[in-house]
Amino acid sequence: MTVRIKKAVFPVAGLGTRFLPATKAMPKEMLTVVDKPLIQYAVEEAMAAGIEDFIFVTGRGKQSMEDHFDLSYELNATLERRGKTSELDQINAFLPPPGAIKYVRQREALGLGHAIWCARDMIGDEPFAILSPDDLVLGNVPCLKQLVQAYEQTGGSVVAVMDVPRDQTDRYGILDTPNPTDQLAEIRGLIEKPKPADAPSTLSIIGRYILDGSVFSHLERHEKGAGGEIQLTDAMAKLIGTQPFHGLRFDGERFDCGTKEGWLAANIAFSLARADRRALTEEILARYR
Ligand code: UTP
Repeated sequence: MTVRIKKAVFPVAGLGTRFLPATKAMPKEMLTVVDKPLIQYAVEEAMAAGIEDFIFVTGRGKQSMEDHFDLSYELNATLERRGKTSELDQINAFLPPPGAIKYVRQREALGLGHAIWCARDMIGDEPFAILSPDDLVLGNVPCLKQLVQAYEQTGGSVVAVMDVPRDQTDRYGILDTPNPTDQLAEIRGLIEKPKPADAPSTLSIIGRYILDGSVFSHLERHEKGAGGEIQLTDAMAKLIGTQPFHGLRFDGERFDCGTKEGWLAANIAFSLARADRRALTEEILARYR
């Protein structure tokens, strides 16, 4: 029997330098894909996977995310007065129950590992999920739900993985695994941003994880890794050998919305995937071809 995954951490304190100038005063996680901000996709995905506690690791200039998950009295009253019930439903349906979202500040963007460490007191030692909102996955079953299902079989820790072109391994956390083509790859090593020639495989971790709470004891050392940042991958690597640890080739397509091209592709793909947007999107695409 595995412990049920009830808590998820959303690291949202990064500076989003690859998306400047858009992200100078606006959080990257509030960029919209079709008609929803990235952070809403992530929270909805977590809800669909049974998450009950939503922990945002946030920073300066990120208040609009807190407002997005709060009531907007003025907007509610106006929509009610105008009889716009479907819009009203849309802005209230995605809100987790009061008190379910907690916020903690990272203070300095020292790296993803440091951001996750900031949530330690809210997680304790239970296994938990992490969702990076700038990684968006289009698919039939929400990516985190797939991870939870895999975790229920294997226990330990499970991360979502996908193949990347070999000349791009130096952008990702890469797996060393004896079975890289299996759907569930056993992890025997993890390397952050290896040079293509040094990469043990082309299987890369994306921003969806289920990790054992013991990862915090490794994050506590605040060791700097690739790029001078406190890397989550380095702390995860210390879990290898202490428990089952797998990479799941998830079903779906991942978009890195932290880049301008990934975000544009996501807008097109998500728009085409929506019955109410498809025809209009095709018409627009044809216009600019
Ligand atoms: P990224 O490395 O993509 O985010 O981290 P970034 O640093 O904001 O982006 P660039 O590279 O400058 O363009 C993935 C996730 O981790 C969060 C980010 O907000 C993003 O959701 N993050 C990253 C933190 O919360 N704190 C950090 O110190 C770094």
